[in-house]
Amino acid sequence: MTGGRAPLGAGTGGAFPAVRPRRLRTTPAMRRLVAETRLHPSELVLPVFVKEGAAEPIPVSSMPGVVQHTRDGLRRAAAEAAELGLGGIMVFGVPLHRDATGSGATDPDGILAVAVRDVVAEVGDDLVVMADLCLDEFTDHGHCGVLTPDGRVDNDATLVRYARMGTVLAEAGVHMVGPSGMMDGQVAAVRAGLDAAGHVDVGILAYAAKYASGFYGPFREAVESALEGDRRTYQQDPANAREALREVSLDVAEGADLIMVKPAMAYLDLVARVSADVEVPVAAYQVSGEYAMVEAAAAKGWIDRDRVVMETLTSIRRAGAAIVLTYWAAEVAGWLGRR
Ligand code: PBG
Repeated sequence: MTGGRAPLGAGTGGAFPAVRPRRLRTTPAMRRLVAETRLHPSELVLPVFVKEGAAEPIPVSSMPGVVQHTRDGLRRAAAEAAELGLGGIMVFGVPLHRDATGSGATDPDGILAVAVRDVVAEVGDDLVVMADLCLDEFTDHGHCGVLTPDGRVDNDATLVRYARMGTVLAEAGVHMVGPSGMMDGQVAAVRAGLDAAGHVDVGILAYAAKYASGFYGPFREAVESALEGDRRTYQQDPANAREALREVSLDVAEGADLIMVKPAMAYLDLVARVSADVEVPVAAYQVSGEYAMVEAAAAKGWIDRDRVVMETLTSIRRAGAAIVLTYWAAEVAGWLGRR
């Protein structure tokens, strides 16, 4: 940092600045030359929903442009994502039936495992194929784990289910699982399960700092969540930053290959701190509510949609995230390819 006052220009009677940052903003070429942050399709991951038994795509009303895919539609979306050069795809399954233990999550013929097999058959190793590893889409109470008789989320019983789910997804061909339930010890449990079954190359994208956020609202529609109440006994309090650093170090110690901060935009301080702190790549999830806010304001004509989309993604990268999960991934990759 230069301290004190900037020198004044000669021959101006000392009235005008000699140092002019605006020189670097004079033309598009100049701005491009000095841009510190660039987006590239390879660092974008597209979250997708696939609905069991769907005969045609079902729009998610709170996420204009996002659908619950049919199995065929998902294959096409995955092929398109690979064609666009995206970094990866994150698959969420929406089952027809739910029960107390979320048995669909560990069913090799359940919608998520089947969809992973479809996607891998379609794209092979051209995309990093990821799957959400959590019970909430599969439980009839909508929580991310199994419950004790008195209705609390049972951490350790849930870990047993997560470990099993990891191996089922690995057998379906997934490259990376994303444990998103915020149970203590989930990364270690999933890693141990994978290793014991010989899936040493299947990676873990740990949702390390995941907040109990109002920004997940539209996602709950997208997966037809059965949840009543909230997840505040396992997801983090938005008031806390130090706690996020603790969660992240635990996940790294347990063997996380990538760690994630979620949501993104209201938590960019954490994206920055975590990126500075850890040696594994950091991902940020631009969640459903972030998407919905921009789409809604743009639909009203209140903001310039495409410009704001780019600005949000650039800010997440500028904060330090190496990887961004965003529902706009395919569209933005298309824009980037045309530049
Ligand atoms: C849990 C999960 C959620 C999201 C991703 N994984 C929902 C939740 O924690 O309530 C939210 C993603 C989004 O809002 O886009 N399986």
